[in-house]
Amino acid sequence: MITKDTIDKVFETSRVEEVIGDFVNLKKAGANFKGLSPFVDEKTPSFMVSPVKQIWKDFSTGKGGNAITFLMEHEHYSYPEAIRYLARKYNIEIEETVQSDEQKKHADERESMYLVSEFAKNYFHENLFNSEKGKAIGYTYFKERGFTDETIKKFELGYALDEWTAFTDAAVEKKYDLEFLDKTGLTIIKEANQPGEQSRKFDRFKGRVIFPIQSMSGRVLGFGGRTLLTDKKVAKYLNSPESIIYHKSKILYGIYQSKQSIAKEDNCYLVEGYTDVISMFQSGIENVVASSGTALTSDQIRLVNRLTPNITVLFDGDAAGIRASIRGIDLILEQGMNVKVVAFPDGEDPDSFARNKTTEELKKYLEDHAQDFIQFKTSLLLDAAKNDPIKKAALIRDIVASISKIPNNIQKEIYVQECAQIMGISEKVLFDELSQNLKKEQREASKKQTSSRTPFTGVVKETKQVEHVDRLMVLESALIWVLLIYGNETVEFIDYISEIDDKGEKTIKKENYKNTVCNEIYVNLQEDEIEFTNPIFVKIYYEIINRLNQEQVIDVKSLTKHEDLEIATIVTNILMDEEQHVLSDWERHEIIPKSKEKGLPKFVPDVIYNLRMHLVKELILATKKNMGELSQNENSIQLSRELLDEIKDYIGLQKILSEKLNRVV
Ligand code: CTP
Ligand code: MN
Repeated sequence: MITKDTIDKVFETSRVEEVIGDFVNLKKAGANFKGLSPFVDEKTPSFMVSPVKQIWKDFSTGKGGNAITFLMEHEHYSYPEAIRYLARKYNIEIEETVQSDEQKKHADERESMYLVSEFAKNYFHENLFNSEKGKAIGYTYFKERGFTDETIKKFELGYALDEWTAFTDAAVEKKYDLEFLDKTGLTIIKEANQPGEQSRKFDRFKGRVIFPIQSMSGRVLGFGGRTLLTDKKVAKYLNSPESIIYHKSKILYGIYQSKQSIAKEDNCYLVEGYTDVISMFQSGIENVVASSGTALTSDQIRLVNRLTPNITVLFDGDAAGIRASIRGIDLILEQGMNVKVVAFPDGEDPDSFARNKTTEELKKYLEDHAQDFIQFKTSLLLDAAKNDPIKKAALIRDIVASISKIPNNIQKEIYVQECAQIMGISEKVLFDELSQNLKKEQREASKKQTSSRTPFTGVVKETKQVEHVDRLMVLESALIWVLLIYGNETVEFIDYISEIDDKGEKTIKKENYKNTVCNEIYVNLQEDEIEFTNPIFVKIYYEIINRLNQEQVIDVKSLTKHEDLEIATIVTNILMDEEQHVLSDWERHEIIPKSKEKGLPKFVPDVIYNLRMHLVKELILATKKNMGELSQNENSIQLSRELLDEIKDYIGLQKILSEKLNRVV
């Protein structure tokens, strides 16, 4: 973890206008700077940077924030990645919080592997332009494939000389450690078998053209090397071996170059190979990545999902291949993404197809041939099933299996309707099959124990020793959640008021009243001067109440676009989260065991009472602790008496609260 000191230093040193100036052409406009929005295509500048306030605002998308949030939005860095980027830019040394020796060794090892990979990328790339053989063989090859100089530079393609140790020697001469050449797989070391024999080493990629594989933030993780031979016995591609920096299943080739375009176009084209990415990119379709010939993994899908919920899978033009690859697509549906597919003409892959096409032609083909995945799958399989009832029954199960992966219920229903139509069967058949499927999945899920799910705000931890913090967090997030989802609803609440009647007996009077959920929460918290403890909830609550006071309603939409990225993100996450998920979280903390079925009139007071109970309990504990710490003198006897009275009051309060709570539940 980066220390707070380093983070502070980064914030102090960074100038937002300098940071953004590296990506956007800024012109002085009064006290501010102006430029074209980097998030959309526009002709008149709507992007403003304020050096005084150290913030930026993009008026065409509503985005805005500080230097860090700019890097997170534009470069899609995570928070620590953005900090590291700025630290590099401003030559700030990064201090890490104390690490164990083991952690430290691991971090150092990783860093060394990144460094040697970076060196290798530059070395291979320079070979193309500076060495005779590199120019004659590598560069010529790329040229023959139709890659321009600009493309070669953009993807930093390279060539490894066809000599046993040309690269390894160059690296060792530059003082790179053989250990990391070995660990990254750039150098293959064969240990000596017999005493007296020397170990042998050679360059893994010798004689191959090189495709560097980069992370989303541009770090070199590994390489793909293509042979120039047509010998069938030689593997066409050699890739870096798995290592602590290279995990094939978590990487998408091209994501570094394409991320801006993916976000801008709000769609990602998925192809198979390195050259498909490069050719499409060169032809003007820049929102493209490759799975590098393997089946798509959920980690890879998540990577895309950070940029867009829309994915279009491009298939090479042969039916067998298509049938094999559509299996993996259910995984994309499962993540709630919208999937389209495009098939290319027989014998063509995106690379060959894109060649000799203008951007317009290529765009038009992709747009004209993009089909919704489920429809595509239905038609494709239907074609194979034709009039065979057994095959058709299997097909229905297959389609329904895909549909059941979609998290959104409305979307599910629409698909059922459409597929029923395509297959010429009744919707009921599909719905029945679907509900059976879902039941089965639920059974399996409950077997797997839901406790492994991460709570919905990402704030709540689950370990035992932080249980009391958890409880508070869960209650606070419950309040925020109910405010965001139901804040504007008017509900009939019930209050119980105890009175002493004429005969001197205590009676409980029930009183009904109407209020909006947000007002009810606001008034209650105000009454007890309760404040949220989680800083992000403090911020969100403040925003909500501000809106409530000004407009009498909560405009949740505007919160999702809030210029404070943290607010926007958390609110969006909460809104997207399924109710069930949230509720199960509370249940696990045994906070609201029964009231949820009874709706908002019970639910809102329930959460509030629980929160009060919790706070009173904390107060009692704290007061007891204070008492225990009192020293023995005259003063302290008086003080301790006061504290004792306080505790008594609290306990009385606790009793009242628990009575009320029991009535609610
Ligand atoms: N691949 C691999 N190892 C192989 C073959 C393929 O890693 N032995 C991966 C590569 O990422 C490759 C992708 O699978 O880009 C697709 O393979 P293929 O279609 O055979 O290669 P192309 O990328 O089309 O390469 P080219 O056009 O040069 O034949
Ligand atoms: Mn190809």
